[in-house]
Amino acid sequence: MKVLDAEFVKGFMRMADDGWRQGWHERNGGNLSYRVKPEEVEAVREEFRPGEWKAIGASVPKLAGEYFLVTGSGKYFRNVTIQPEDSFCIIELDSKGENYRICWGLVNGGRPTSELPSHLMNHEVKFIATGGKHRVIYHAHPANTIALTFVLPLTDEAFTRELWEMATECPVVFPGGIGVVPWMVPGGREIAAATSELMKQYDVAIWAHHGMFCSGEDFDLTFGLMHTVEKSAEILVKVRSMQPYKRQTIQPDDFRHLAKDFNVTLPEKFLYEKH
Ligand code: 13P
Ligand code: ZN
Repeated sequence: MKVLDAEFVKGFMRMADDGWRQGWHERNGGNLSYRVKPEEVEAVREEFRPGEWKAIGASVPKLAGEYFLVTGSGKYFRNVTIQPEDSFCIIELDSKGENYRICWGLVNGGRPTSELPSHLMNHEVKFIATGGKHRVIYHAHPANTIALTFVLPLTDEAFTRELWEMATECPVVFPGGIGVVPWMVPGGREIAAATSELMKQYDVAIWAHHGMFCSGEDFDLTFGLMHTVEKSAEILVKVRSMQPYKRQTIQPDDFRHLAKDFNVTLPEKFLYEKH
């Protein structure tokens, strides 16, 4: 089968295009990766032309030998559906999880996203934490979430609680909460380590003054998670734009009742009393 005819590749392209349409991917902003299933690799292997091994810039031994579909560095999400072979690639990791090689795609040259260390370290943490269920790591630049990193305290507690309050479905969609990474230089191992540490407990990590990372089982769940967090951030921006305080909101005990009825566990550290 041709790579571009495979359902997992179509799903990847649709998600990238959805993100572009949401306005989350100015220029080359954002990146997306998917850990390909063994049977999906076999279905398209005939088109693989492996290149040179190159250093990942991080060590992910638990992902040794895995294949990933990943957007290219400097490539535009806007072009993913019209120039797929130029915009993303399939990479294979070596037996140590320290090097990768491009097997398909990026036909005009280039390399996987500069955030490859963050993607792969997040994949490794989630591989362990979910027993291999999570396959998608998504990084985008959604404006409302970024705007909040200039006005809210940069703590997991503040972001989780404020975004939970903005839409009743939020604590059900991300009951574990949200982690926050202070401003750091992007593209390296240090920010990757900070993000993957948060991904041990959260499916969402916000990068101050930059964007957001989400992890999930499939394209729908991961896109839906990013969409839900950003929608909630948009509501908070609108509320704060009307007046600096909320006249009424969802209270800690309301969350506790919701948790019971919807059968989710909401950590008490997010249900603090406000003064
Ligand atoms: P890439 O083009 O290398 O994927 O970088 C985009 C980005 O959002 C960096 O954080
Ligand atoms: Zn970015």
